[in-house]
This record gives sequence, structure tokens and C-alpha cells, in this order.
Amino acid sequence: MCGIFAYINHLVEKDRRQVIEALVGGLARLEYRGYDSAGIAVDGDSEKDVMIFKQVGKVGALRKHIAESPIDFNKTFISQVGMAHTRWATHGQPSPLNCHPHRSDPTNEFTVVHNGIITNYRELKLVLGKRGFQFETETDTESVAVLCKYLYDSAQGRKPDFTSLIKSVIKELEGAFSFVFKSVHYPGELVAARRGSPLLIGVKTEKKLKVDFVDVEIGTAPDAEESIGGMTNAPSAGLLAPPGGQPAGPGSLQVPNANNKLIRSQSRAFLSEDGLPQPIEYFIASDASAIIEHTKRVLYLEDDDIAHISEGELHIHRLRRNDGLSSMRSIETLEMELAEIMKGQFDSFMQKEIFEQPESVVNTMRGRVNFDTRQVKLGGLTAFLATIRRCRRIVFCACGTSYHSCLATRAIFEELTEIPVSIELASDFLDRRTPIYRDDVCVFVSQSGETADSILALRYCLERGALCLGVVNTVGSTISRETHCGIHINAGPEIGVASTKAYTSQYIALVMMAVQLSEDRISMTERRNSIIDGLHDLPEQIRSILAQDKALQTLAHGTLAKERSLLIMGRGYQHATCLEGALKIKEICYMHSEGILAGELKHGPLALIDESMPVILIMTKDSLYPKVQTALMQVTARKGQPIIICNDDDKDINASAKTIRVPRTVDCLQGLLTVIPLQILSYHLATAAGVDVDFPRNLAKSVTVE
Ligand code: F6R
Repeated sequence: MCGIFAYINHLVEKDRRQVIEALVGGLARLEYRGYDSAGIAVDGDSEKDVMIFKQVGKVGALRKHIAESPIDFNKTFISQVGMAHTRWATHGQPSPLNCHPHRSDPTNEFTVVHNGIITNYRELKLVLGKRGFQFETETDTESVAVLCKYLYDSAQGRKPDFTSLIKSVIKELEGAFSFVFKSVHYPGELVAARRGSPLLIGVKTEKKLKVDFVDVEIGTAPDAEESIGGMTNAPSAGLLAPPGGQPAGPGSLQVPNANNKLIRSQSRAFLSEDGLPQPIEYFIASDASAIIEHTKRVLYLEDDDIAHISEGELHIHRLRRNDGLSSMRSIETLEMELAEIMKGQFDSFMQKEIFEQPESVVNTMRGRVNFDTRQVKLGGLTAFLATIRRCRRIVFCACGTSYHSCLATRAIFEELTEIPVSIELASDFLDRRTPIYRDDVCVFVSQSGETADSILALRYCLERGALCLGVVNTVGSTISRETHCGIHINAGPEIGVASTKAYTSQYIALVMMAVQLSEDRISMTERRNSIIDGLHDLPEQIRSILAQDKALQTLAHGTLAKERSLLIMGRGYQHATCLEGALKIKEICYMHSEGILAGELKHGPLALIDESMPVILIMTKDSLYPKVQTALMQVTARKGQPIIICNDDDKDINASAKTIRVPRTVDCLQGLLTVIPLQILSYHLATAAGVDVDFPRNLAKSVTVE
């Protein structure tokens, strides 16, 4: 959903303009996550001052707004803290007030950027409101900023350190979030925290780092959980009334108390090898695309991590001590190149990603498919093959396009493995509290690996003891970390909101998985070999469809652009293509479109057909061809004039019919080819309608809220 970016340096001389540029540049990379408004906060002219800039619209509008502001851009600092946010509204309209960063009060004592949803924010507002606080926005996030101030002000005697304060705040929150906090009370410091929403930290320094993790404990306290750093933390809901009840009355609120014994537990990281202070910069972001241009060295925060950065040092704390999770985090090196996330010669990321598919499908298969020995080996599954083969059923769980890739491959899974397969939309799966057992295998398919519904479904299945697999594109994402095993689809970064290359790579990854699972079945050898041969030819076949771009553009701009609706029909392996094509057209063309199972035509949708209803019919040469011919007759008998997606060697189609021809392949791979003209058509329909295809309205790339 929203995107967070933050920056903090130590002993690195930067002027204000450079820091603002880093923040706005980071936001531009995250814009695909949500983009109805954006904002930043940077250090003011004195330690007690912070500057906040906000603007509705895209990041470009914010950049312009800042450039026109009367501030001293040349003021130089050796340590600065800045935070930035691009928003996709969940609570409150896109408006300058509702943009992040949010502040605790008119003097900006605490500023916060947030991704996710605080589900108990109404209760928080009620309680804080009763204590005299006022709110200027409709957002859930503002309640967190105000809570910071409230807990800070309430601390008697010695004020808490920044980490302890934020721990107290987080303990009051319900929901999913990642945060960055900044405060005039803690100049030169920054705190980041996450639960259920991704956050990673990039580290940049010239000096060689000695990664030095030291656990330090000072003092003891019997109620360690409740008295950290001199504060008594109200346990979760301690600040609030019980559900459905009245807010806690006077006296029921626990406030920080300086008399508690001090207990600290911390992991210290990133001291230089010589132990001397070193110039260092940290970049905090919702995903790696915003960090990569600064550094490739990153560490991923885990749920309930609280990261504190000050004086060049990073300390990771756990929200609750002794929760069984270490606070040590290792630094990973990002594999992706900045060039991979740039548009290159294309007008949009979506177009680039469509045209990358001949390469991205190869990357998905690279090192996994041996075309000589006709074998598939998915390293991430090897140790689990026996368990999967023994399972009582495989449950695929995903959302949107990723769900379609599961539908597209269900038949080949069932055929090759003879294991019952069910396909679930993650949200519905959770709504139904679907029964899951220890001998189930659950597969979570997700481009981002951060889709909230899919993550919740994953955790639900983990709790029930099922073996959980991830099929994800984003290395280091929550799904890739929390599953037992899985497959990275290696499609490369997908920036366009409408998923294209991730779909074809997911599809191939799932086919490879089915092939590998069936390698113990001699009876399936011939079928497997034909699939592997089919996989081999895919890149060239995709190229030949991409070469029809101009003709498809003409069709889109000439015939289809003026329509208000488009039905896409097919059956068997092509049903998923129909749904996926219709989804693309809905999301980026804002045109009604429906994917229809041709077998269902006579059960209702046929009533829609007349000479004016635009229809695309997918009719490729597989075992269901005769049945789709019947559907074609049913449509033409009602004066429908469908555009037919068919194989290039199909001579049975009436010469007068409008066709889009695609190469022929094995039935279970054919959907990889029929989807491509639909991706291209949707792209051209969208540009004809003047839509910014990478940023369709109301949508975000990563749906990290339920
Ligand atoms: C459509 C699209 C969405 C995503 C869905 C799941 O083009 O991209 O439908 O497929 O939001 O996202 P992931 O795959 O990241 O879990």
C-alpha cells in the first residue's frame, strides 16, 4: 500500500537539499505502492524544529512544492534525520492534512510515517481525546503520533529513551504496521518498527564494517516486560477500555514511572573494524527498490523488531524480551541492479515488463530445467518432495493475478500428481475459516510476498501444522521468510501495478513444480517430456507474439477503445487466461470486462450476446476445441462477432473471422501464450484512454492491508 522511506546519517556532511533529494528520490521509487499523496519531514534550523512538507498527488507534485518553499536548502549538517511517505488512502480522503508524516501536535514534537492499518485507532483517539488531545486528521496514524506525545509527557522524572517510549506505544497498537518515528526530544535519533508490514534498512559506509553483535543487559527487574528503560508500559489494551466497554477511567492508565529498575537488552551492530566513530548513512524503506541506488547492504526487520539508530549505531530490540526470537539480524547483499528497476526504452514499466517476458521466463527456468536430460530440479523443494507426495491435498492460496496462475495450472497438477488440488482466494479462505490439517500442503503464490491476505492465510495454515510453500518473486519478503520452503520465480522486479511477467513466471514455476513432483511416475514420462520440450520453445514463441504489437495496438485503438464492455471466453486451460485478461482490462482500462467459462455460456451469459457486445473467444487446438467451437456457434447465432485468439496453424476457422494468432504449444502451456495478446491489448486500450498504466487509480502494487 503506502511506501515509507527514511534517512539518517552520522558524520557525513550533507546539505538540506541533498537529504530532501534522497527522500523524494526514495519516494519516487516507492510510488508504485500507492500514490494519492506524499510528504516528508526533515530537521529544521534548530534541534527543536522540524520541517514538514505534504502534497496531494504524485511525488512530482511534492518535489515542486518543496522547491518553491522559502527554506535554506544549503544549510549543512553532519547528522540529519528525514522521513518520507507516499500514501494510498485507507483512512481519510487524500488531502494535505491526511498525508504523512503525521505529527503529535502543532509544535511537531513527534512525527511518524506509517504503512498499514491500526485497527484500534478509534479507541485510542477516544481515550486520548478524553485526556485533552485534539486531532487534525481523519487518519489512524495521527493517533500514534499523539500517543507518543502523551506517553512522553506522562513520564514522571527521568524521561524514557526513544526505544523504550516507542515500545510503550507499540504495545498499545493493534493491527499491521511499519513505522518510522522522529522526535525533537531525541535529535539525531530515529526509531523504526514493524509488525505485518515490510521494512528493511540499508547501511552505507566507506569503512569496512565489523559486524559486531553484542547482547548487553544492565540490571534486572522482576517485571521486566512492564518496566523497560525506566518506563512502566501499559500492557496492550491497558490504555483502552475492554472491547465494547467505556474508555479506561482516571487512574486506570499506567504511565511511565522513573522508579522502576532499569533493564536494557540490546544488540549492537555495525561498529567499524577499528572501533572508532565512522561516517555512516542508513536508509529505511518499505522495499529494496528505494535503497538499491544507495547501497546493496541491507537487513530485513522482523515482526516486533524495534530498530533504533543514533550516533551512527543501529540497535535492534525486540518488543517483548524473551519472546524466543533473537534480535540479531544479518546483513544481506541485494542481488538486483538499479537498471533492473528502470524503465529503459519503454514508455511505462508495464510495457517494459510485458516485453521482458522472453527473458523473464528463461530466468524462472534457469538452472532448474535440464532440456537435455528432460529433468526439472527445484532446489528449494528437494528436501520436501516425499512429504508433498504423501499429502492428502494441495491447497493453493493467492489473490488476483497470482490466484489466476494457480487456476491456470490446477489441471496439470492434478493430472501429473493425482493429488487433489483446491484453489483458494486468500480473503475468502480466511473468511470461511477453511479446515486445514497437518497432512495438507499449502502453497502461497504472491509476486510481492507481502500481500496481507496471503500472509494471514499463511499464518493460519502454519498454526494448523500444514507444510507451507511459497512461490514468490520478492526475495526476503514476508512470505518467502515465513514459509517452510518454496520457489523464487526470479522474474525480476515488477513495478507496474498490473502484474504481467510475474504471472507467466508463476505459471511456469507451478508447472515445474508439478513436473518435479511427478518424476517418480514412469507412466507420466512422455507427458513430462512434452512439457519440458514445450518450455524450451516458449521464449521464441513469446517473441513472435510480441512482434504483433502494432497490429494489436491498431485493434485496441481502432475497434475496442470505444467500447464500454468486453467479454473474454474460453474453457479448460484457457479459463484462467480469460479471467486474467479481463482483470488486466478492468484495472488499467477502467472498462468493464468479464472472463467467462465457455461451458457456462448457456447458463446465463449468453443473454448478453448481440451484434453490439464485444467478445474475445480463446479457441486453441486442445482436447476441448470442439466444445469451444460450439460456444462460437452459440455466439455467432446471436449475431455476435467475436475476435478469436487461435493457433497460427488453425485452418478450421472461417476466413472472415477476426483472429489473433499465437503459436501452438502443449495444452497446459498454451495459456502462457494466449495471455500475452491480452496483456498487450489491455496496455494499448489503457493508453488510448489516457490512463497512466503504471499507476491506475485506486490500486497499489503491494496490498499490505486486509
Ligand atoms: C493484478 C495484480 C493483483 C495482484 C494481487 C496479489 O494485475 O497485480 O491482482 O496479483 O494483488 O498480489 P501478490 O501477487 O503480490 O500477492
